[in-house]
Amino acid sequence: MSLPSQTLLLFGATGDLARRMLLPSLYALHADGLIAPGLRIVGTARSEHSDESFRTFARESLREFGAADRQEEANVTSFLKRLRYQPLDATRPEAFAALAETIGDVSGGLAIFLSTAPQLFEPTIAGLRAAGLAGEQVRIGLEKPLGNDLASSRSINDAVNAVFPEPRTFRIDHYLGKETVQNLMALRFGNALFEPLWNANNIAHVQITVSETVGLEGRAGFYDETGALRDMVQNHMLQLLALTAMEPPANRGATAIRDEKVKVLRALRPVAAGDVVTGQYGVGAIAGAPVASYRDDCGHASSTETFVAIKAHVDNWRWKGVPFYLRTGKRLAERRSEIVVQFKPVPHDIFRERGGQLQANSLIIRLQPEEYVRLMVMAKEPGLDRGGLRLRQVPLDLSLTAAFAGTRRRIAYERLLLDLIEGDQALFVRRDEVEAQWTWIDAIRKLWAESGVTPKPYGAGSWGPSASIALTERDGVSWHE
Ligand code: BG6
Repeated sequence: MSLPSQTLLLFGATGDLARRMLLPSLYALHADGLIAPGLRIVGTARSEHSDESFRTFARESLREFGAADRQEEANVTSFLKRLRYQPLDATRPEAFAALAETIGDVSGGLAIFLSTAPQLFEPTIAGLRAAGLAGEQVRIGLEKPLGNDLASSRSINDAVNAVFPEPRTFRIDHYLGKETVQNLMALRFGNALFEPLWNANNIAHVQITVSETVGLEGRAGFYDETGALRDMVQNHMLQLLALTAMEPPANRGATAIRDEKVKVLRALRPVAAGDVVTGQYGVGAIAGAPVASYRDDCGHASSTETFVAIKAHVDNWRWKGVPFYLRTGKRLAERRSEIVVQFKPVPHDIFRERGGQLQANSLIIRLQPEEYVRLMVMAKEPGLDRGGLRLRQVPLDLSLTAAFAGTRRRIAYERLLLDLIEGDQALFVRRDEVEAQWTWIDAIRKLWAESGVTPKPYGAGSWGPSASIALTERDGVSWHE
């Protein structure tokens, strides 16, 4: 199974994800010679297309969403030649025969990328099996949402695993494809500096923020059913937490990494009612322009949360007593994903009596939009100190954008599609991880249901409801802003 696939089958090939991400990513891999010349790409969706009209659709997607400096006509033309299209109504089992015919022999390896409406999951899997598109040589990549609680996720995974055993199932969390997220492992396990300090003896708390300025982006129906907790915390934020908190894996293989992540996810303490805050955006302004409230964006009154902040704990030796503050939301002040590791103060302060004020070190790992690692350290201000000693916190900066200026930045799906085609599972989420994630999330939702929690309003363009500030301030901690 580690042989590269010879065919890639894209479900949802005319959808938004395909247009914005998948086709441009595949094109970039093609243009850089990273996929085998013989790899064929077959698109399928309900819409009627011929091979030619699908190629036109793909060409337009590349023009609109591909990198502006990568539009060489010869590359585009040779990429489009790889594409074929087969319409499919996945609710009609007999329709899969035509798909199988277009795909032909799968003995050379087939990789399937499935991003489809939840209700089409099971018929699609059944159809693939019946049409002979699920054998030993076939692996499947699954895009979220994969259920909306533990029970539904289990039933989807049961249906998938009955046909595609776990070593051939690739669950996507696109955050794992992001360069800076993988860099977290390089930082932790490629440097002698951090790991000896990376524990409760030296770390006071960790903050993980994934804030967005966007609103619903035309996904009101999906989002209103889902909310920030399930849209962002259940997957992306818990993966960031797991990568931050996990033990050093024995090697860089999929099993070793995922074994360590799942231990963290299973060690998450159930959240207490007072340790979670939810919010929903009202009217406000983003980048100086007025924006509507969530209620107006989704067209009706709703109790769906567009913001959530949580004080989490990982109950194990390494993290005993160290809070992990998580927050995410739509229509916040800034687009920013970052992890802040706050170290404890030095044990004995020799500067205070001379007027010097110490601040404890912190490590800021900015994942997007900028990419940097910044260690905040204390330094003495230059001078003869006649009026007392002045100390200042200064950044020790590693800008990844500057350090690797000549290197192409790849979007997450380039990496994930290539790994799917080549069969490397390290950056895909294993079933036990997903189930541990859902177990923790379901308990929070149960708490909300029992205590009738409704989200607190916050102005669009702010950092969320004031209660989220109180969540950390009562521990003497401020959100890093
Ligand atoms: C998706 C969520 O998984 O991640 C979206 O469904 C969110 O609501 C998106 O906007 C954020 O991804 P990124 O890569 O823009 O941080």
